[in-house]
Amino acid sequence: MNTVAIIGMLWGDEGKGKIVDLLSEQANIVVRYQGGTNAGHTVCFKGKPLPLHMIPSGIFNEKTVCVIGNGCVINLKSLYEEILLLESEGVDVRGRLFISKRAHVTFPFHIEIDKNIEKKKGSRKLGTTFKGIGPCYTDKFARVGIRVVDMLQREELEALLESYFSTFTGRKDEFDIKCIAEDYTKIVQELGDYIIDTVSFLNREIDGNKRVVFESAQGTLLDVDFGTYPYVTSSNPTIGGVCTGTGVASNKIGRVIGVAKAYSTRVGKGPFPTQFEEGFEEPFRKKAKEYGATTGRPRRCGWFDAVGVGYSQMINGVSSIALTKLDCLSGVDKIKVCVAYKINGKNGKASFPPDTASLSRTKPVYEKFDGWEEDIRGVNNEKALPRNAIKYFKALEDILRIKISIVSTGPDRKDTILREKIW
Ligand code: GDP
Ligand code: IMO
Ligand code: MG
Repeated sequence: MNTVAIIGMLWGDEGKGKIVDLLSEQANIVVRYQGGTNAGHTVCFKGKPLPLHMIPSGIFNEKTVCVIGNGCVINLKSLYEEILLLESEGVDVRGRLFISKRAHVTFPFHIEIDKNIEKKKGSRKLGTTFKGIGPCYTDKFARVGIRVVDMLQREELEALLESYFSTFTGRKDEFDIKCIAEDYTKIVQELGDYIIDTVSFLNREIDGNKRVVFESAQGTLLDVDFGTYPYVTSSNPTIGGVCTGTGVASNKIGRVIGVAKAYSTRVGKGPFPTQFEEGFEEPFRKKAKEYGATTGRPRRCGWFDAVGVGYSQMINGVSSIALTKLDCLSGVDKIKVCVAYKINGKNGKASFPPDTASLSRTKPVYEKFDGWEEDIRGVNNEKALPRNAIKYFKALEDILRIKISIVSTGPDRKDTILREKIW
C-alpha cells in the first residue's frame, strides 16, 4: 500500500510539518484528517519558515494535491487568508487544494465560547489555543454543527444558524444571523472550486495506487481518548482518526511513521513528567527556539520520554520513527532519557497511566548518555555525526525496540538523514 500516516508521538510540535513536506516530495496527495487552526506546522520554503495552520504541509511541492479531510474543523476565514498568504509567497494553491464537504466549520462564536470558558472564574484551565476547537467539536457531536456542505446555499445556512442560535444556545438575539450567513456564503463561493466529496476522491486515488500521506495535527498525548485528559484537544490525532477523518479504511493505511523530537516539549497546561529542571529549561528553550507557531507561547521543554513514546507506538501501531531536532541537543553534557515511571514510590513497569493525577505524581527513572559538542545542524549523512550522537539515537532504538528511519538535523528539507527508503 502506497500510503503513510505521519503521527505526532507526544504533545504536538514534534516537527510533523517538516517530515510531511519531505515525504510529499514523492507523494501525490497529502491529507489532514483532524484538528483545525490550533495546529501550527512550520515548513521551510526557499529558506523561509512558513507556519501552516489548516493547509496540509504538502502544499510546497507543486505536484502534490492537498486535502482537508472530513475530520477537520475549518475556520474558513483563516483558511482563505492562509491561501492568500501562500499565493503571495509564490505558492500556487488553486486546483491543488480540496476541502471536504463533510468537514465542520468553526465560527467566531466558537472562538468566543473557547475564550470565555478558559477565562471564567473557577473553570478548569486547559491553556487552549483559543481557536474555537473544543466548542466546534462539541457542536459536531451534539449534532447541531454546521458543515461546509450546509453553506453552499445562503438560505439553508441562514435557517441552520437561526435554529442553532434559538434552540441550542438560546442566544439568538445576540447575533446578526443574516450578516453571518452573507459573510460566510461569500467565502464559500470564493472557495467553491475547492469543495468536493473528499471521501470518494481519496479512495479512488488510493485504489489507483497513488502515494498518499496522512498528516496528523497535535499528538497522541493530546488525543481526546488516549491523551492526558482533560489536558487534551478535542479530536483523535491517533491512528483511528485517520479512518474517521478521511473515510479511508484501516487496511488501506500502509505504514505509520511516528514523529518524536530528540527531547520533549509541551505547550498549554497538564502534567509533563520529564520537564527540565529550572535554570536549564529557559536557555535550552531559547537555543532550540521552542515557542508556539500558533500562539507564540513558550513551550515547556524536557527529556525524551520513552514511556510516553512507547505508549504512543502501541496506540498507533507505529512502523518506524522520525527523530527530529537532534541538532538542538549539541552542547548538552549529559543527556537523560526517561525509561520508566516511578509512581507512589514503586518503580513502575513502563506503562502510561490513564489519569493525570497519577501522571503528576510520577517520578521519571532516567538513563544517562554522554553528549557531544559539535554543531550538527544540517548534517545529512550519518557517518558525519559525532559518535555520541549516533550512540544516543541507537540507544533510543534499543530502548523503544523500533527503527528510527529518519533523523532530522535542521528545519530544512535537506537537513535530514534518511536511514531507510520510505516509498
Ligand atoms: P509540528 O507542529 O509538529 O509541525 O511542529 P512545529 O512546526 O510546530 O515545530 C517544530 C519546529 O522545529 C519548527 O519551527 C520547525 O521548522 C523546526 N524543526 C523541525 N525539524 C527540525 C530539526 O531537526 N532541527 C531544528 N533545529 N529545527 C527543526
Ligand atoms: P500541532 O499540530 C501543541 C494544545 C493546546 C492546549 C490543548 C488544547 O502544531 O502539533 P485546543 O486549542 O486544541 O483546544 O487546545 O492542546 N495544542 C497543541 N499543542 N501543538 C499543537 O498542534 C496543538 N494544538 C493544540 O496548547 O494545551
Ligand atoms: Mg506545531
